[in-house]
This record gives sequence, structure tokens and C-alpha cells, in this order.
Amino acid sequence: MKNNNVKRYERREFIKILSIAAASCASTCLYACSESTSSPVTLTGKKIEVRLEDNATLLTVGGSVRKTFSEVNNGRPVLIVRTSETSFRTMTMVCTHQGTTINNPSDNKKVICPNHGAQFSIAEGNFGKNIGGQSTADLQTFETTFNPTNNTLTITF
Ligand code: FES
Repeated sequence: MKNNNVKRYERREFIKILSIAAASCASTCLYACSESTSSPVTLTGKKIEVRLEDNATLLTVGGSVRKTFSEVNNGRPVLIVRTSETSFRTMTMVCTHQGTTINNPSDNKKVICPNHGAQFSIAEGNFGKNIGGQSTADLQTFETTFNPTNNTLTITF
């Protein structure tokens, strides 16, 4: 003889387990979509020199140049910005959300990731900060010093 109570109980348990699994999966997906997933930059202390005469866009305040050095920043691009007559800043162009390469600045205030729209400031005092669009961690910045005697920047990665 068949026991209907046992069968009903099993079905109820199965549906309950399925609901828990679905809820767990949904919360995992939401968490993954809102958190940073790109691998962080490993700081090595390696120094790279950049001559201003080779990068004309850095000769004026607000100018910037995108550079890629194979041996630092995981071989991905960085942005160097002249923020004043005597100061320069450098940051990675790798989005902290999901690792997409960020577009060049369209103005002298910010850069925007083409993937989900994260915006990062390039202004002095707020350099590399996530200021709009997709919420994510700030961009990695790299110490940049200027030697006016030979018009050379030294960037420490
Ligand atoms: S990868 Fe999503 S905002 Fe950049």
C-alpha cells in the first residue's frame, strides 16, 4: 500500500530545498554584480621614467596621456595627467568593477568605463576616486614625481 503522506512530505521538502537554492543563487548573483571582481594591481616598487618632450599632451595643465608599460600594472594601460604646473598624477586604466579597460578622458574631470559606466575622477584631490555610474572601488594610483631640471616624471609602480 502506498503512503501518500510520505510522498507529499517529500514533494514539500523538495520544493523547500529548491526555493532555498534559488534564493541563494539569486543573492550570489546580485552580490557578484555589485562587487569588484577585477584582480588588484600588484605594487612592485618598480620605477619608470617618462620624458615630457616625448609626450606633448603633458606640456599643458589638464593634459593627459595613456601609456602601457609591459612590466607594470599587469601590462595594462595607465593614464598620466598633468594636474598643475608642477604636479602630475598616474592611475591604472583597469576598471575595479570587472577589469574592463577604461576610456580616455572626454573632459578634464573624469574617465568613464565603457562596460557599466563607472566614472572616476582625474581632478587633483579626488584623483582615481569612483564618483558616479557603477559603484565600485577607487582606481589604483601610482606615485608620480616631477623633476623640472630634466622635465622627467618618475612613476613608482
Ligand atoms: S567593468 Fe563594470 S563599470 Fe567597469
